[in-house]
Amino acid sequence: MEPETVLILGATGNIGVSAVKAALSSNRHVLAIVRNKDSADKLIHHIGSGSSEGITFVEADVLADDERGIKGVVERVSAGEVPGFQHVYSCVGGEYTTDSLLDISTERLRYNMNAMFEAAFFAYRATIPYLLAQPSPTTWTLCTGSQGDIATHPLPAMTQGALFSFALAAARETEGTNVRFNEVYLGMRVEVDEEAVKHGVVRASEFAGVYERVLEGDVKSSRVLVESLEDLENLRAVKRF
Ligand SMILES: NC(=O)c1ccc[n+]([C@@H]2O[C@H](COP(=O)([O-])OP(=O)(O)OC[C@H]3O[C@@H](n4cnc5c(N)ncnc54)[C@H](OP(=O)(O)O)[C@@H]3O)[C@@H](O)[C@H]2O)c1
Repeated sequence: MEPETVLILGATGNIGVSAVKAALSSNRHVLAIVRNKDSADKLIHHIGSGSSEGITFVEADVLADDERGIKGVVERVSAGEVPGFQHVYSCVGGEYTTDSLLDISTERLRYNMNAMFEAAFFAYRATIPYLLAQPSPTTWTLCTGSQGDIATHPLPAMTQGALFSFALAAARETEGTNVRFNEVYLGMRVEVDEEAVKHGVVRASEFAGVYERVLEGDVKSSRVLVESLEDLENLRAVKRF
């Protein structure tokens, strides 16, 4: 049987690297959406294997809502130019800053809403019709953060607030379908392994287990809470409706 494939947006980031590790260690393939070759090299460095085996890199602009973005990737999949996929993980990042609301320019607000909110929304709209047409069960996973509730970092916090509503709507809309949509709500700091060790935070490879369990299990239309080390070992999922 052909291995399943996970399409990952933000694949080179802290969360994306954990998703890539989860997919590869569960014998799945990865369709890593990257901006350029430098990003692809960064990902190979962070996964630590020194090899791109199991990973297909696709260059696209995840911030664009047209054929330059995920819409174009899905068109290339449908044309047979890029491998098909059964799972999507969305974790594009923006600025992680404590800047006051008064110091956030309109330009930065729009850029961060584009990167952290719109990219997920565009990807959902482009990939869900494709997943609904698949004969097998599929998943769509979004990483959000507790900043949306605590707002010590106003700029990323506001983007998470928007994602919470998006995730709830997506969970409702896919409830009766072959797509298991879930939001992974992260209340801890995760970084790529070498940075995590320096900063004493959770390593991407430790966090990878959460996504492996989401892929393997039957959790659906839920918020998966990751707020303690225990949550890294056992999936804690709640339904918000
Ligand atoms: N890390 C955490 O502990 C944590 C906690 C809670 C929530 N989250 C959420 O998870 C998401 C990802 O966080 P992260 O820490 O993994 O972020 P990150 O390390 O900064 O990674 C961001 C990812 O997004 C990509 N990206 C950013 N801007 C892009 C652009 N204009 N075009 C294409 N790709 C772009 C980056 O690609 P390049 O490599 O090419 O730059 C990278 O793959 C965020 O929404 C964040 O709020 C993270």
